Amino acid sequence: MAVVSLALIPGDGIGVEVMESAKQILDAVQATYDVTFTMTELDWSCERYHRTGAMMPADGLDVLGRHDAILLGAVGWPGVPDHVSLWGLLIPIRRTFGQYVNLRPMRVFEGVPTPVRPELSAGTDFVVVRENSEGEYSEVGGRIGRGSSEVALQQSTFSRVAVERIAEYAMTTAESRRGHVRSATKSNGIIHTMTLWDEVVDDVAVRHPDVTMSREHVDAMAARMVMHPSDFDVVVASNLLGDILSDLAAAVCGSIGIAPSANLAPDGPGPSMFEPVHGSAPDIAGKGLANPIGMLWSVVLMLEHLRLQEPAAALMSAIEESLRDPRTRTADLGGTASTGEVTEFVAALLLKERVSS
Ligand code: NAD
Ligand code: IPM
Ligand code: MN
Repeated sequence: MAVVSLALIPGDGIGVEVMESAKQILDAVQATYDVTFTMTELDWSCERYHRTGAMMPADGLDVLGRHDAILLGAVGWPGVPDHVSLWGLLIPIRRTFGQYVNLRPMRVFEGVPTPVRPELSAGTDFVVVRENSEGEYSEVGGRIGRGSSEVALQQSTFSRVAVERIAEYAMTTAESRRGHVRSATKSNGIIHTMTLWDEVVDDVAVRHPDVTMSREHVDAMAARMVMHPSDFDVVVASNLLGDILSDLAAAVCGSIGIAPSANLAPDGPGPSMFEPVHGSAPDIAGKGLANPIGMLWSVVLMLEHLRLQEPAAALMSAIEESLRDPRTRTADLGGTASTGEVTEFVAALLLKERVSS
């Protein structure tokens, strides 16, 4: 019997609601398969910040480091500035544990309505490989001056080593898929960092002769993603460009509420962290409207990462089954189900596996 230790951080807003779904599904997995999860639930959130003055305790990263994987809902809530909540929790986790890959799969699922015409979106299945450790998300910068003379500056950092490792990850990913990488750039003479990005991605591509790599300006790529999403196999992008492209891709596939992500630490020290792409969604929080699929698909990525292939595959097919019918889809996908009803449906399918096996 495998015993796996999980750190659960529900966070804020719908993060808490989709974490409830995840817990229900993890319980169904351990009731059905040969695995036990020990779950440490951590109340690290904006609410904790109001209470204690910190998003997480001083030894928070040590606590996480003792687990096999981290599952996170969403962080951020009105009343706490985003730079406080994000630099106080999310970003330190990604950086301390070496989670330099942010992997974000996208698919158009059977039966799911998309804003793009079905003949264009059918068969869409790609992954965004987002650089997760540096780039435009740097700590260097700030605001200087006052009033009409105020200026804000942000220093991007693109190191050869970080671009090389993310490009390598993208090429290797393409080798196990359909063999095409599109590199998002903006190197047309304006952004200096992007010429380094291009040069390094080109060098890495040479080492992968079976992969075709095309370099595309991100503005044109965004348009292509809407017009021809099924052309994409693997997208490699910097931290900010990957962030924007992944919300766009999720919307093209029907809703930001279905997109999952894995913050992977391929070279350690780990652990890796899994979380939906979406945020805390203050506009729908507390109403049972949140789509839990982005979180549940993130659980699939986590189970795969933990080499629990059988429950991962069963959960993925239960997700696909729920997405086929509007009665088991949430409102963002034109459905009528609540967060809890989608979760119940998926959990029941998993528990049925136990009866049939
Ligand atoms: P958001 O993703 O929370 O919401 C954007 C829109 O998408 C909203 O209209 C929301 O209702 C909708 N939406 C999001 N998830 C959904 C779901 N599961 N089901 C149905 N609809 C869903 O983005 P935002 O409004 O820009 O950010 C809100 C807060 O979340 C901010 O504080 C932001 O910093 C934070 N945030 C955190 C993370 C994270 O923890 N990784 C990610 C993104 C945003
Ligand atoms: C995401 C989020 C975060 C990011 C924010 C909240 C810092 O948008 O996980 O996609 O940009 O990485
Ligand atoms: Mn984002």
